[in-house]
Amino acid sequence: MAAHVVYYSYSGITRRLALEEAESGGLKLTEVKDARRVGKLKAYLRGCFAAIRGGAWKICEVGGDYQKADRIILMFPIWAGNMPPAVNAFLKGIPDRADGQGEPTPVLVKAVSTSGKSACRERLAALLERKGYALEGFEDVMSKGMKA
Ligand SMILES: Cc1cc2nc3c(=O)[nH]c(=O)nc-3n(C[C@H](O)[C@H](O)[C@H](O)COP(=O)(O)O)c2cc1C
Repeated sequence: MAAHVVYYSYSGITRRLALEEAESGGLKLTEVKDARRVGKLKAYLRGCFAAIRGGAWKICEVGGDYQKADRIILMFPIWAGNMPPAVNAFLKGIPDRADGQGEPTPVLVKAVSTSGKSACRERLAALLERKGYALEGFEDVMSKGMKA
């Protein structure tokens, strides 16, 4: 099964984990990037506010290759218990596959956070389902003590 790792990282930890994931499995890798990188204060204030509300920020165009994958491994850091705005933008932008044809593409999520806790599993599962993807699994990865 051709899996593709799609990740977002603000401070580099998820990037490192995603690179390891892709390297160990010989998988393709795609980064979701903010169109304009914000400073830490803005990330914590406006970013967390947006994350809680499911808000999206502008991102750079994401290479379309991941759409051909049979399986996606989606990795991102947790912001205020939720998906960061860049990840919400990515999810909003993925083409709709819910045409009733074929099986939904499975998505394994790895949510990286210092606490190892998140509160967005249901929201993410619903978003994916609407687009014709299926949440295969949701893993909380604790990054406490990890370096970028
Ligand atoms: C804006 C912001 C909000 C965060 N909110 C949480 C949180 O709610 N819970 C948590 O455990 N960690 C939180 N963190 C910590 C990150 O999830 C954690 O450091 C993660 O490993 C960072 O990954 P990255 O280096 O790929 O960006 C937050 C970090 C930032 C920058």
